[in-house]
Amino acid sequence: MKDSSLPNIVPLLAAGLLLLSGCAAEIPPAPNPTASSASASPTATPTQTATETSAAPDAQPPAAPQPPAFDAAKFSIDDPSSLWVVSNKLRPLNPISFEPADLATPSGLPNPQGHTLRTPAVEALATMAADAAAAGINLSITSGYRSYNTQVGLYNGYVSRDGSALADTYSARPGHSEHQTGLAVDLTDGGGCTLDTCFAGTAAGQWLAANAPTYGFVLRYPEGKQGITGFMFEPWHFRFVGAELSQHMATTGTSTLEEFFGLPAAPDYAP
Ligand code: DAL
Ligand code: ZN
Repeated sequence: MKDSSLPNIVPLLAAGLLLLSGCAAEIPPAPNPTASSASASPTATPTQTATETSAAPDAQPPAAPQPPAFDAAKFSIDDPSSLWVVSNKLRPLNPISFEPADLATPSGLPNPQGHTLRTPAVEALATMAADAAAAGINLSITSGYRSYNTQVGLYNGYVSRDGSALADTYSARPGHSEHQTGLAVDLTDGGGCTLDTCFAGTAAGQWLAANAPTYGFVLRYPEGKQGITGFMFEPWHFRFVGAELSQHMATTGTSTLEEFFGLPAAPDYAP
């Protein structure tokens, strides 16, 4: 029985193979997503439009849309009320006793001394702190807006303690501090590295360094840039500039405002 069943199956298999091969010839090749329209046109299918099929043989595919060029002059870097104002040792605020008009108290994170910030920074900070908390990072504020007179007291205290040469590496003179713009905030995780360079090695410091640009903040005094910014590495000091600029700086790998805006390095005050 086994032997006699085989001859009956073979013709059936052969017929099946013929049918299959005939069908395969009708299956169109899979589309190649990388093929250009120019290379596709010689094998145009009936579904293509007249426009597509009548393209010149050497027609190039349309260029991919490019994002608009970044407008580095969109906001003033001189006006102390501008989100992009650049203050450093060579660029005092003008007027030197500038006071912001839209100060508000941040919410959503501990702020034991009740520091204020400008409203755009307050809103961005609340979002950043909430996202940090969701990632297990609990931030709090150690400093925000400081008036000209507050900076006078702070700076003079540091000079008394450390002398002006050392104080000038970590404290801005009155009228030169970003804190006076209401756009700078010092952040901590409440641990032993508060206002210390070792904050950079904490989970909070690393989260901030990686994520602050998403929310419009830049780490204003990066490591190794004292010759440009004038100040030592401050991994706790974040300056709000708006996400458009902070993200562009991150994308282009530009770490200081001085370099981004093509400003002179400001290692020291003018004599
Ligand atoms: N610590 C920064 C430089 C300031 O005093 O504004
Ligand atoms: Zn600061």
